[in-house]
Amino acid sequence: MKKGREKMFLGTSKNGHLYWDGCDMVKLAEKYGTPLYVYSENLILKECQALKEQFLDKYPHTRVAYASKAFNTIAMLQLINQENLSLDVVSGGELYTAIAADFPAEKIEFNGNNKSVAELEMAIDYGVGRIIVDSLQEVDLIQSICRKLHKKAQIMFRITPEVNVKTHAFISTGQKDSKFGIPLVPEILYPQIEKVFASEELEFYGFHFHVGSQLSDNSAHIAACKVALNLMLEVKKRYDYQIKELNYGGGFGVCYTKKDVRKPYHYFLDPVMALTKEFCQKNNLVVPEIVIEPGRSIVAEAGITLHTIGAIKELPGLRKYVSIDGGMTDNIRPGLYEAEYTGIVANKVDEKLSQKVTISGKACESTDLLVKDLSLPEVVAGDIFATFTTGAYGYSMASNYNKLPLPAVVFVKDGHEQVVVKRQTYAQMIQNEVKR
Ligand SMILES: Cc1ncc(COP(=O)(O)O)c(C=O)c1O
Repeated sequence: MKKGREKMFLGTSKNGHLYWDGCDMVKLAEKYGTPLYVYSENLILKECQALKEQFLDKYPHTRVAYASKAFNTIAMLQLINQENLSLDVVSGGELYTAIAADFPAEKIEFNGNNKSVAELEMAIDYGVGRIIVDSLQEVDLIQSICRKLHKKAQIMFRITPEVNVKTHAFISTGQKDSKFGIPLVPEILYPQIEKVFASEELEFYGFHFHVGSQLSDNSAHIAACKVALNLMLEVKKRYDYQIKELNYGGGFGVCYTKKDVRKPYHYFLDPVMALTKEFCQKNNLVVPEIVIEPGRSIVAEAGITLHTIGAIKELPGLRKYVSIDGGMTDNIRPGLYEAEYTGIVANKVDEKLSQKVTISGKACESTDLLVKDLSLPEVVAGDIFATFTTGAYGYSMASNYNKLPLPAVVFVKDGHEQVVVKRQTYAQMIQNEVKR
């Protein structure tokens, strides 16, 4: 593989083939078929290690809760548990998978802007460690479920910190006009907190924010951190109550193409940790436990997707479309928020780049274009195309559109592979359909 790409995308090459964590991607595609999601276990572990070095071991009284919406499968959650991290889930399905993975209940936090009664019952019954309240109906609901099940719950409030975020508008969440979080309006927020104080079943832990995703600038985290710290002080003043925990969310950006600059975790975390310590010292507050919720940054770069090239269509003087056997069904991000990707031909890694093409998916949508204007060597049907950095929000957003089955997922490590999700069959795809 050419130097620059190798540095950025962490693969290696042998005999013209792309290797990912020691495994030949061409052989893997032959063996398991395509589309195929492939994750390097070592790269996931490397991220966990970076979080330990730059956050958990550096600062006492901290936790990392992996935002499993980025990639939630039993095997992934087992890996997260093995690494001793906590877990963030946002639905009954994510929680169900966590339970199936034997994820310890007390290390799970339940987020989500519209949790259903059934989901809350499931979470409270399992005994999740935190419920992060995101709507005004939730406190009453949680309380009544706790009473019914004779359980207690630890409550955080997700706030809308009203900060502007430098990312695509579709993945920005911390701005004032957002469906996420409780607005920073005293008449709205404090009565909710008072309800928690008044309840025997509920314990108030603190505040949570998540400003947005795919960030390469720390200013939104810093601004939101100031908001959360001031709220902590206000709670102390109003109720003489020292909150136990602040959750600063996730959002740490990764490299999709050479245009992206990936900042290390400490770039985001050192300033907010310094700010937290300084603020608490100045105001005579106990430093609370600080939790972060990275999703994308743990799995995105570890994952690639393999597709087989099929139809090739040249529009003279205009564009050459190279079609693959998947696309928006296994990676909706380009269509959903103009996300950019890059990739290579996995069986022609050393060949000269001789043409510009557009990689198009097979779904019946004009927006199903995976990569535009990509330099590739000459390609023919049957070549294997590898898209980099597909580990986050690829599998988890995959669909059966056009009745394409969901791809398999393979973990690779030091030259060994393991299928962790089998390819969906046509029969499985229609198993819940009923003939009339
Ligand atoms: C509440 C919450 N926490 C964490 C995350 C993870 O964000 P990222 O994958 O960008 O780290 C999200 C993503 O949307 C979120 O909504």
